[in-house]
Amino acid sequence: MKIIEFKIDMYEEVYILWKKTELSLVSSDTKEEVERIVKLHPELFLVGIKGQKILAVVIGAFDGRRGYVHHLSVDPNYQKQGLGKIMMEELHSRFKKMKVHKVHLFVEAENMGVIDFYKKIGWLIRSDLVMMSYVPDTKLYKVKKFKKLEK
Ligand SMILES: CC(C)(COP(=O)(O)OP(=O)(O)OC[C@H]1O[C@@H](n2cnc3c(N)ncnc32)[C@H](O)[C@@H]1OP(=O)(O)O)[C@@H](O)C(=O)NCCC(=O)NCCS
Repeated sequence: MKIIEFKIDMYEEVYILWKKTELSLVSSDTKEEVERIVKLHPELFLVGIKGQKILAVVIGAFDGRRGYVHHLSVDPNYQKQGLGKIMMEELHSRFKKMKVHKVHLFVEAENMGVIDFYKKIGWLIRSDLVMMSYVPDTKLYKVKKFKKLEK
């Protein structure tokens, strides 16, 4: 697998991969919103490809203080072959190069199985924090699954 930077013309295939891995897809996952995040730090939004096929994807982000990881996905047919680890190692090294001090990610309560994966690659659980969220515009953010590309 070769790791390259995401380009917006890969959006449809990446979206299908996210759906296959059953990530929660919301209003932040439209093409327009994905385009916004990739513009911030294109070097942190990575896809793993073999030939023409996208096998893995991860969004890295940096807000100037902390790094973030979103939507890591490996095609179910290629899981447990080390690809998720390879994607994260590449992202870790890019964060290091950017001198990012700390990186966060969020695991949904219904997806606790992946915690062991992250622990294996060096991540720590934070028991000293409670996550809080605020929605500035309730018309914008849709918590319901985003359906646009579904057949
Ligand atoms: C989580 C995910 C990215 C892992 O990718 P992967 O390519 O299967 O993982 P790897 O093969 O690189 O695994 C690395 C190590 O973690 C272990 N591991 C992987 N998934 C695991 C799981 N669900 N539970 C426990 N251990 C796991 C592997 O066995 C391997 O261990 P080893 O080094 O001792 O052999 C993949 O399962 C996935 O796409 N899941 C669905 C989407 C998702 O939940 N993403 C995370 C959002 S927070």
